[in-house]
Amino acid sequence: MKQIIDVKLTVRKAVPDIAGWKADMLVVGRFLDDKAPDKLNKELNARLDGAIEQLMSLGDFKAKEEATAIVYGNQRTGAGRILLVGLGEKKKATLDTLRKAAAIAAKRAVALKAKTVGLALHKAFGSQFDAARMGRAMAEGAHFGGYRYDEFVTEGENGRLDSLKVEVIDSDSATIKELSAGVSSGSVIGVAQSYARTLANRPANVINPPALAAEAKKLARGLKNVTCTVFDEKQLKAKGMGGVLAVGSGSKSEPRFIALKYSPGPRAANKPTVALVGKAITFDSGGISIKPAQDMDQMKLDKSGGIAVLATIKAVAEMRLPLNVFGIVPSAENMPGGSSYRPGDIITTYSGKTVEVLNTDAEGRMILCDGLAYAVKQKCDVIIDIATLTGACMVALGKYMAGLMGNDDKLIKQLQQAAEDSGEKVWPMPSGDEYADEMKSRIADLKNIGSKWGGACTAAAFLRQFTGQAKWAHLDIAGVDIFAKATESAAEGASGFGVRLLSAYLMNLAGKKT
Ligand code: BES
Ligand code: ZN
Ligand code: ZN
Repeated sequence: MKQIIDVKLTVRKAVPDIAGWKADMLVVGRFLDDKAPDKLNKELNARLDGAIEQLMSLGDFKAKEEATAIVYGNQRTGAGRILLVGLGEKKKATLDTLRKAAAIAAKRAVALKAKTVGLALHKAFGSQFDAARMGRAMAEGAHFGGYRYDEFVTEGENGRLDSLKVEVIDSDSATIKELSAGVSSGSVIGVAQSYARTLANRPANVINPPALAAEAKKLARGLKNVTCTVFDEKQLKAKGMGGVLAVGSGSKSEPRFIALKYSPGPRAANKPTVALVGKAITFDSGGISIKPAQDMDQMKLDKSGGIAVLATIKAVAEMRLPLNVFGIVPSAENMPGGSSYRPGDIITTYSGKTVEVLNTDAEGRMILCDGLAYAVKQKCDVIIDIATLTGACMVALGKYMAGLMGNDDKLIKQLQQAAEDSGEKVWPMPSGDEYADEMKSRIADLKNIGSKWGGACTAAAFLRQFTGQAKWAHLDIAGVDIFAKATESAAEGASGFGVRLLSAYLMNLAGKKT
């Protein structure tokens, strides 16, 4: 099978200068409202006899966000091509502006088959942000933009890049040192996110719950301080994980319960133990409450939450964060069949609580409740779950941000901060008593659907019942898990949403700045 494009970042000292840097493409940023070109733009313009400023004055490139223009070096610059990337209005600029610009540049480089890229985007920002954070944002962005999913395309695209070499360049040694620290963690996170995108993009005939469990075992073998426990159907029965068993009962592929544990020893003492719990439905047909045919193929991505958890454990272990982190991933395939669970069934879940099933398509919460109860039994202080849980969340927030619910204001704030740091946006939503009341059943402890309205909130209120005394937050990533079409900065398909967000949260918690 074809490998994904191997994106590699380094930080290099620009000798003799940035304008002379040798590469297939040099990437330079530009703000919409900059009165005059900055030093680098000026130098390049001078070498090119005013070609850049002419491009600007003709209005062919206005430096709006996501706009790009290419100027050819004509042997006068070190690079064959200069890619100008628009950064929009300076006062609106954030680290995500830089991250996106790097992604756009990497995506263009792949499209143009430019193997070596000199990245000088950060120069446009001056000292607005610290260099380490800029390095991290650029590295995350370059990995994100350089990603595409084509492992099953047999017809070789002529000259498709196997690798992309991105060199972040600067002429100041102190800045280079700072940039390097950021580029190193940004690369770890970027590689983890691309890993997540590939796993999520793989179809349901390739990844079923046993295959996902095998992948998790393989992942753990390659990481220090990570162990992986997998429960098969027999063990799920012995443990009483009724939720996972019920959802998995209609499929020929058995369900699995995956529990990764990262524990770096004494370094993590006195730090809270965090559980990440991710929904991994390898295909969600809806089960007996079957979904309409339209877009059902996208339900191969219903494992995205669980995969974001696996990839975050990879990033956390590779950064050697001083924290204990569980990665808990219940996995099942939700299929209709003679042995499926049915509307009306009453299921005893791992926590002991009983659930009346009124819709088999509300299966995410049925597996997550066992995952949450497992995290509680492991005495985790903080539990964060992540799931493509409800269409209702997409109705509420669209495709731009994830719903964020929880029972602890501080944890919510920490996740909002992580969203700012990572560029993966969240929006707070309620999940309190009113919603919990809707989830009460007359013949069991709970039912698995509420009324017609507020479906994202009732789903979260259901999950809340399984979190014990832990601080808990819930991320509903339905909608943000996928790019239905390619954008300037992203390939079509899985987004890997959550990997940067959760990594940023855990880095902040561990006190790792970059
Ligand atoms: N996996 C879906 C949610 C989903 C929908 C994710 C669209 C991404 C895009 C989930 O299992 C589901 O089917 N939820 C139901 C819940 C309902 C039956 C209460 C839904 O949202 O319709
Ligand atoms: Zn469903
Ligand atoms: Zn689902």
